[in-house]
Amino acid sequence: MIERIERVAVVGAGYMGTGIAQRLAAAGVAVTVTDATPEQAEQGRARALRDVARDVEAGLLPAGTTDAVEANLTPAATLEDAVRDADFIEEVVPEVLDIKRDVLARISAAATPDAIIGSNTSTIPVRRMADAVERPERFLVVHWSNPAHLVPGVELVVGEHTDRGVLDPVKALLARASWVGAVVGDAPGFVLNRLQYALVREALLLVSEGHATAEDVDIVLRTTLGFRMPFIPPIAMLDMAGLDVYDKCFGLLQAELGDRFSAPSVLTEAVADGRHGMKNGRGLFRDYPPETLDEIAAWRAKAYTGMSRLLAELGPMPGTQTETETEELPA
Ligand SMILES: NC(=O)c1ccc[n+]([C@@H]2O[C@H](COP(=O)([O-])OP(=O)(O)OC[C@H]3O[C@@H](n4cnc5c(N)ncnc54)[C@H](O)[C@@H]3O)[C@@H](O)[C@H]2O)c1
Repeated sequence: MIERIERVAVVGAGYMGTGIAQRLAAAGVAVTVTDATPEQAEQGRARALRDVARDVEAGLLPAGTTDAVEANLTPAATLEDAVRDADFIEEVVPEVLDIKRDVLARISAAATPDAIIGSNTSTIPVRRMADAVERPERFLVVHWSNPAHLVPGVELVVGEHTDRGVLDPVKALLARASWVGAVVGDAPGFVLNRLQYALVREALLLVSEGHATAEDVDIVLRTTLGFRMPFIPPIAMLDMAGLDVYDKCFGLLQAELGDRFSAPSVLTEAVADGRHGMKNGRGLFRDYPPETLDEIAAWRAKAYTGMSRLLAELGPMPGTQTETETEELPA
């Protein structure tokens, strides 16, 4: 298996493929892009260059980035040409199982035997694609989020046959372009979509049951949960707010809303075992030495204050400012 990835091929120069390719090329990685036709591969490269030039112009990327992308991003006329010398190949074709399987079979036939192969699927399990790949131990899902050139997190989905030796080189490649890889199992929705769809489902139920307008649901989400989440995500928040508190609240919600709100046994068992979170130094999956609590509080104050400043500086998404928010803005 390849130990260090130097050359990458991106198969599918559409929306996601172009974003992945442009950030890799900007980070100095040699990338070849290909698509169904040579013209589409050229168009993908041209779009990447336009996007980068626009972001340089806006001051979002350093001045030399366009030159780096121009030098490192090459279009290839065919899939076989693109993947032949690549250490890592990412499939980014439409979310249709037959197309993915066909493209993965072609990739694995044309690539070197020790090249690592990834798929950017959002929803198809590794196990439904792996048998289309020659040497499936080198295959995993490497799932970028939209827009790939801006969102830092990438899911690395390991299938039953995936050799875990692929993870280090893929993580190192991601780190070169300042992405962060998280390893997740081959379960439906992986991690991101399972969480996202649970949240969206409840948001829409709240609206359709008449408990809040869509606008107010979004205000609550982005000014409370969403506001805190980049710094203190849900499991850390459990520790901060108190495991015993969450356990009681699950009980109350379950009584009113049914079993989809029952407390997971990992939580009830931890509470029964005396784990109450930061307040007694015993969190769900880790402990907190007393001397770190002040440091955490100071860091949180800095984080939330910084977030408030950024939001004030940016203003709301264009076209979405509400009357209430207009009134609240300082003169
Ligand atoms: N768009 C998103 O928000 C998003 C987010 C995460 C993951 N994804 C996943 O990324 C993948 C691509 O999505 P997208 O939004 O970039 O789609 P897209 O339609 O913009 O791009 C797909 C590209 O694949 C090309 N293609 C089709 N058949 C091909 C073939 N046989 N060989 C080479 N290229 C071929 C198409 O011409 C097109 O350019 C999908 O699996 C999707 O689920 C998308």
